[in-house]
Amino acid sequence: MRNKLVAANWKMNGDFSALAAWVAVMKESVPEEGGAQVVFIPPYPYLRAAVDALCRTQIGVGAQDVSAHVSGAFTGEVSAGMLLECGCKYVLVGHSERRSMWSESDEIVAAKFEAATKVGLIPILCVGECLEERELGLTEKVVVGQLNGVLDRVGPTIFGAGVVAYEPIWAIGTGLTATPQQAQEVHGVIRSRLAACDDGLSEKTQILYGGSVKAGNATELFSMPDIDGGLVGGASLDAGEFAKIANAA
Ligand code: G3P
Repeated sequence: MRNKLVAANWKMNGDFSALAAWVAVMKESVPEEGGAQVVFIPPYPYLRAAVDALCRTQIGVGAQDVSAHVSGAFTGEVSAGMLLECGCKYVLVGHSERRSMWSESDEIVAAKFEAATKVGLIPILCVGECLEERELGLTEKVVVGQLNGVLDRVGPTIFGAGVVAYEPIWAIGTGLTATPQQAQEVHGVIRSRLAACDDGLSEKTQILYGGSVKAGNATELFSMPDIDGGLVGGASLDAGEFAKIANAA
C-alpha cells in the first residue's frame, strides 16, 4: 500500500515572515503520526529556514529545481549535493513551467532526475499535457513520452527512487481542476506504463495529482485508486487551506 504524499509548491512566492506563519499553522494542523507525508517546497533562499523551522516535525522540505551538474562553472545553478546539505529530501524535476519557460527537454529532465537520485534526494517528476494536446487526443502519448524520457535513461531501479506528479497544464493556476475521473484515467495510464517495466515499480511509485487542487476537491481526488496525493500550488500559500488538503489525503 502506497503512503499518501501532499506537497506545497510555493513557486516564486513568500518571504521569511510568511514562512514562519505557515510553519506555525502547519505544526498545529497536521498530525505528527499516521497522516499523509507532507512536503514543503519554498524558493531556494528559504530552504534552510524551512528545514530549521520544521526539524521537530515529520514535514519534509524540497526544492523546486536542481542542476543536472555536480559542480563547476554553471552560474546560477544549484546542485543536488547543495540541496542535500541544506536539508532537502525532495526536489521537483520537469515542472511544466520549467519545461516551457526554460526549454527543459526530456533529456535535461532525465539528467536532473538522475543527479537527484545520485545524492539520495527523492525527485518528483512532473508530467502533463497542454489543453491543445488533450483536445487532439494526445494526452497519453505526451505523458508516456515524458515518462519514457526518464525511464529510458535511468532505468526502473533508479526511477523507483522517485515520485511522479501528473499536472495537466490546462489545470495549473486556472481553477479548472481535472475531474477525479479525468485524473484517475491518466494516473492509470502512468501506473500501467510503470507496470510494463516492473510490477514492483508500479506498486511502489506514488503518483500525485497537481492542477488547482483545493480543500473542496481534494477528498474526491485523493479517493481515486491511483491518486496517491497532491502537488499543490496556489492553495498551498494559505496554510489553513493547505492543511485541509493534507488532512484530506
Ligand atoms: O506544482 C504545482 C502547481 O503546478 C499547481 O498549481 O496553483 O494549480 O495548484 P496550482
